[in-house]
Amino acid sequence: RTFLKCFYKNLERQDVQAGNKVSIIGTGMAGIACAMALVSRGISSNIALHDINQELCEAERLDLLHGAMFTSTSKINKCTTVESTKNSRVIIISAGARTTGKQSRLDVAHESADIIKQVVPEALKYSPKAVFIIASNPVDVMTWYTRELTNLPIERCFSSGCHLDTARFRMYIAKQLKLSAHSVDGYVLGEHGDSSVPIWSSVTVGGVPLIDIKANIGSDEDSMRWSDVHQNVVTAAKQVISGKGYTNWALGFTIADIVSAIFEDSKRILPLSTNARGICGIQDDVFLSLPCIVNKCGICGIVYPNLTEWESDKLRNSAATLLKVQQSINQ
Ligand code: 2OP
Repeated sequence: RTFLKCFYKNLERQDVQAGNKVSIIGTGMAGIACAMALVSRGISSNIALHDINQELCEAERLDLLHGAMFTSTSKINKCTTVESTKNSRVIIISAGARTTGKQSRLDVAHESADIIKQVVPEALKYSPKAVFIIASNPVDVMTWYTRELTNLPIERCFSSGCHLDTARFRMYIAKQLKLSAHSVDGYVLGEHGDSSVPIWSSVTVGGVPLIDIKANIGSDEDSMRWSDVHQNVVTAAKQVISGKGYTNWALGFTIADIVSAIFEDSKRILPLSTNARGICGIQDDVFLSLPCIVNKCGICGIVYPNLTEWESDKLRNSAATLLKVQQSINQ
């Protein structure tokens, strides 16, 4: 069996929305960090902002525009209605409930689902070819819910998922080894949250698999306590939220990286939240992070992860946790 599941066959005819307009629906701290990252990197020449709090939205827009001399983004439009996001190439949904330092992301699923229901079908009506990137927590369940509401094709409906957890994972491993985070490869998969799975068997540093150096790395028997690295990933958001009330900058970088991978038609492999049915014995339509191949259409394929038994068990556990919350949404 090949290790790549590509959707190329049904994407050849996919007519991608022209241009590089990116709309951000929800200009709270997360949404505006996405805008800041997109503007800083000059990824889009046409950014549209929408929020039910129009005063906030306009203030954020002006604040970004005041830096125009230093950036290359030409247009940052205010959208008083969802209709003004029309003909977007990418729509970032960052409107959702904010978790407090004491809540898990899953605790706010119902509150976020109500918001997703209000904005996503309408946004799709005006941008029928857009790629939807869900950044509202809990991102995995909100991505499943977005597909339930819209029946969007799988390649155009996904979330940042564990791309942020993976960034944190690589950062903490690099810190432990006194190296650059760019020198570490490896993934966190599953839920973007408490049941995420550190795929220690995938971690390489300078091409050397860490599992070859320490066979029990990350396990409870590991005397060097590499498992603390994943614990730091799981508690990272709560640590930041307890200090400033929310997280946003790393999420902004994460989303901008995904948008650039789409616009570059990159075929880069990123850990994003997609339908995991058929992977590692998962039998339900549950959304969680897998290594996804990203091109101009969105997710054009999945890499079947080659996991240890422990990792497969943890991934199925994450799927079961998410499925329970998915099933609670429609009740
Ligand atoms: C984060 O991980 C809160 O999901 C957000 O930073």
